Amino acid sequence: MFARARTGAVQASIRTAQAAAFNKQASRDMKVLAILYKGGEAAKQEPRLLGTVENELGLRPWLESQGHEYLVSDDKEGYQSFLHKNITDADIVITTPFHPGYLTRDLLDTAQNLKLCVTAGVGSDHVDLNAAVEKGLEVMEVTGSNVVSVAEHVVMSILLLVRNFVPAHEMIERGDWMVSEVARNAFDLEGKVVGTIGAGRIGQRVLQRLRPFNCKELLYYDYNGLPQETETELGVRRVADLEDFVAQCDVVTVNCPLHEGTRDLVNADLLKSFKKGSWLVNTARGAICNAEDVAAAVKSGHLNGYAGDVWNVQPAPKEHPWRYMKNALGGGNGMVPHYSGTTLDAQQRYAAGTKQILENFFQGKPQEPANIIIGNKGYATKAYGQR
Ligand code: NAI
Repeated sequence: MFARARTGAVQASIRTAQAAAFNKQASRDMKVLAILYKGGEAAKQEPRLLGTVENELGLRPWLESQGHEYLVSDDKEGYQSFLHKNITDADIVITTPFHPGYLTRDLLDTAQNLKLCVTAGVGSDHVDLNAAVEKGLEVMEVTGSNVVSVAEHVVMSILLLVRNFVPAHEMIERGDWMVSEVARNAFDLEGKVVGTIGAGRIGQRVLQRLRPFNCKELLYYDYNGLPQETETELGVRRVADLEDFVAQCDVVTVNCPLHEGTRDLVNADLLKSFKKGSWLVNTARGAICNAEDVAAAVKSGHLNGYAGDVWNVQPAPKEHPWRYMKNALGGGNGMVPHYSGTTLDAQQRYAAGTKQILENFFQGKPQEPANIIIGNKGYATKAYGQR
């Protein structure tokens, strides 16, 4: 007993010494780099747009008071960019999925001091996670910070496609009025089969929100099955095979992360298994769906519509097919810029979460386990593919 107490005391003093050493190191000026989206006039008028270059996640006074250097920009592409020039000696990089600073293996190779990559939001696919593991970098995100924001957007997008809302609104703006033109492709959600690829935090919240719509069935496809009680509570059924899953759905919603196993998952091949005239909503990541194949499926009417806010390159180029694709009846496009997870409510949560991650890091405190994507032992999440 005494020996155990002594061992405990020795371990505690070692831990204290380690923490002191860490804090000494952490208390030296760190270079913190943030790549955020430009907010322009809106950010000047609306200080709650925290995720912008102008409002800097609200971190500057706090970081500077701690003696750290804080550099913020939206300039991220190419060797001459702010990101590429400044990452070489940065200790911490904060990026956001809304304006992703792509932390490729090549770029990470140039980052000599980098220890921590923080995603201000959810979804860290813009970081080469395998390279981060190899280099011993930690990758954190503010898990859960915007999952309600996205789930609400998904439900809205499903409704606007199924009910043919966008062409009906455009008709009103044009000054026209021809009910049959829009009613000919408008349906009820009640009685339809809706399924989610990915039943994590967002997927489950989508299913939960759809329950009162009296859909014929709610389905999910995910290699991580839900506990039986959760399935019962949500009223959902798991389908183990992806082709079988999409073949049963009137509406498919994508809510899984982008990783090796989901890149280009919804391509011409898989689309063949979709029901003719079904709808697809993707607020997860653009590159999960093949841009050309989806646009062709909408054009041919195999998909009645596609909606979402995520693009395979962001900002999306002017000529991106998803900006302009339409079904044969002039509708079926519910695309918007990447903003579902950056409502003002969400920004407040992911700015506060980013600060907490930094604070834990500076003080050598443990991070919230759910926020750890890559920890000191590699992948800490089961959501980025089966390993
Ligand atoms: P989560 O980690 O709670 O859930 C993800 C689920 O996807 C897990 O259950 C995982 O097992 C599943 N999954 C992974 N690979 C799969 C595959 N090949 N097939 C089927 N299921 C698979 O993540 P959360 O919070 O639900 O977010 C999901 C994704 O949504 C994020 O990774 C991000 O890409 C995206 N997102 C988009 C936002 C936006 O503003 N549009 C904001 C927040 C997240």
